[in-house]
Amino acid sequence: MTYETILAEHRGRVLLITLNRPEVLNALNATMAGEIVEALVAAEIDDAIGCIVITGSDKAFAAGADIKEMQPKGFAEVYVADQFGLWDRVPMLRKPVIAAVSGYALGGGCELAMMCDFILCSDTARFGQPEVKLGIMPGMGGTQRLTRLVGQAKAMEMNLTGRMMTAEEAERAGLVSRVVPSAELLDEALKVAETIAGMSLPSTMSIRDATRRSQEISLAEGVRYERRLLQALFGTDDKAEGMIAFIEKRKPVFKHR
Ligand code: HXC
Repeated sequence: MTYETILAEHRGRVLLITLNRPEVLNALNATMAGEIVEALVAAEIDDAIGCIVITGSDKAFAAGADIKEMQPKGFAEVYVADQFGLWDRVPMLRKPVIAAVSGYALGGGCELAMMCDFILCSDTARFGQPEVKLGIMPGMGGTQRLTRLVGQAKAMEMNLTGRMMTAEEAERAGLVSRVVPSAELLDEALKVAETIAGMSLPSTMSIRDATRRSQEISLAEGVRYERRLLQALFGTDDKAEGMIAFIEKRKPVFKHR
């Protein structure tokens, strides 16, 4: 499939989505939002895909929503069109998604990265929510997901001032899972994604589902939900294969990959 604003390539069982508007630091316009969602939804129903990586360029993952596209719009227009509402489809995906971030991840770019299941970043990454400087505020989860990920103090400071976080601070604060050298970021993200894609899909999808749900429900409900999913996995061929392979001291060959 060919897109105008992104590249989408199969790398083994991984779908690699590269944001591709380098002339505007991958500013997220409506076309790009539609194409990212289309590629993700296609990957979700494609049996050949077990994990997705979203990345940008060395200079920018994405410098936010496209300011030139937003500038002429007023309340009625964005409200009626539910501007940015399409992005809600991203966290609803059921297959694991990794954000591989180099350079700027600002505004909607930081929010897109936070919609993914986890963020791997390079030492050049800079995270920020500079919407306040434009007289607006985050609208794709910047006040919600950032607060859950790094806590109220840092989220509030970043949202109220637009201050950027370095990669090192982001790792310390729990915004990213790991920082790697810039030249190694994509290879490392693809390696991690291939590892995930080699597992049993019912297992990775259930882990993802339960982990995400931990942000929405009580601990007791979450633990019960987790246990039911685990019990359900006892019904899969892949559970039988995984355990017998361990006992036979060989690598498992999962069927539902
Ligand atoms: C449109 C953008 C853009 C953006 C950069 N560009 N960010 N165009 N929307 N968000 C364009 C610039 O206009 C410029 O185009 C080109 O990309 C290169 O950018 P420069 O500013 O020249 O680069 P540099 O000096 O290196 O500065 C990099 C930067 C800066 C610090 C990232 O570009 C910046 O502050 N960008 C805006 C960041 C921002 O405010 N993001 C939040 C957007 S609001 P020309 O044509 O001049 O070469 C948002 C709202 C989300 O995300 C709400 C809900 C979805």
